[in-house]
Amino acid sequence: MAVITNINDLKRLHRRRTPKMFYDYAESGSYTEQTFRDNTSDFAKLRLRQKVAVDMSGRTTASTMIGRDVAMPVGLAPVGLCGMQSADGEIKAARAAERFGVPFTLSTMSICSIEDVAAHTTKPFWFQLYVMRDWDFVERTLERARNAGCDALVLTLDLQILGQRHKDLKNGLSAPPKMTLPTMLDLATKWRWGLGMLGTKRRFFGNIVGHAKGVGDASSLMSWTNEQFDPKLDWDKIARVRDMWGGKLILKGVLDEDDARLCADFGADALIVSNHGGRQLDGALSSIRMLPRIVRAVGDKIEVHMDSGIRSGQDVLKALALGARGTYIGRAYLHGLGAMGEAGVTKALDVIQKELDISMALCGERDVKELGLQNLLIPDDFEGRWA
Ligand SMILES: Cc1cc2nc3c(=O)[nH]c(=O)nc-3n(C[C@H](O)[C@H](O)[C@H](O)COP(=O)(O)O)c2cc1C
Repeated sequence: MAVITNINDLKRLHRRRTPKMFYDYAESGSYTEQTFRDNTSDFAKLRLRQKVAVDMSGRTTASTMIGRDVAMPVGLAPVGLCGMQSADGEIKAARAAERFGVPFTLSTMSICSIEDVAAHTTKPFWFQLYVMRDWDFVERTLERARNAGCDALVLTLDLQILGQRHKDLKNGLSAPPKMTLPTMLDLATKWRWGLGMLGTKRRFFGNIVGHAKGVGDASSLMSWTNEQFDPKLDWDKIARVRDMWGGKLILKGVLDEDDARLCADFGADALIVSNHGGRQLDGALSSIRMLPRIVRAVGDKIEVHMDSGIRSGQDVLKALALGARGTYIGRAYLHGLGAMGEAGVTKALDVIQKELDISMALCGERDVKELGLQNLLIPDDFEGRWA
């Protein structure tokens, strides 16, 4: 493989090395994928303001997210089925994040369990929860996350019902994959992945199988989601989760100013402006486009984080300059994981940090915490006028 210089290089390797069903699961949005595409193309509409003859020595990308020191304000977003992109994927990603000094968020729908990830890391990670109909399961899961030392809960609000992703249905997505003829033919060319999977026992939903009552076959993410996720999630139930958890709380999946105000009034530690990477409401605005309004509405009351569409350090810079205090990457690190396992996640983080650092310097900034609107050129119609 030629030298890896950017996230796209990792993406190409990811595609080559990972079974089609899992690559497609990562690299798709819901329905027409309009929002999925907008998430990245809207970043490209923003431009950076070049400054010269400014001291650019002694730069730092270090910051904090909900009081935690971070080497750069870029966390690893919760991603389901990481352990199908690469064997033991959650453990690999968590270790890479820990060594890099950024937060790792473990998804409810992970392959490696909370306890497994805790046993292979030394610092606390964050846990992401989907609220299920079964409150015993919710309570036990929170208890397990607390016992494992997780020091923040990311509560996802935008997936109580699943937006359809056509490719997952067509590919018959399941974990572990069912051995149909097309899958077997595909796997024949993905020997590296197959060897990794043969060497691990972690091939099922580690937080669910054996923990949720009456769940025999949880291999189908889609049917499990449809049956188990609580469609009646409301603010009372969110308060119930907060009280059960009792620690730091981040509300994920906010794309509306009024919802953002509710999050701030609710007293959460942070909210994440997110459309789930374009995987849920197709037709929603991109996160980067919604970010400025949400920052204006609540930025002085609650930490505003964002994800969806970040593929470079320049993207991170743009989000921070628009007022985000922290950002997260999903696919950008999955590409690293699928391409090269733990080393690939480190590579993705390294690429993004270097891009962020160099771009900061060229913008005449030395401290990531000082980035602001002074660094951006924003087209008049960027936010749009929506009736
Ligand atoms: C393959 C995949 C699985 C995901 N699974 C989850 C999940 O289990 N829980 C969750 O809150 N978000 C999940 N997300 C959404 C991510 O946390 C994040 O919002 C999104 O990836 C950000 O967009 P980006 O991929 O463009 O960076 C998932 C995203 C992807 C791509």
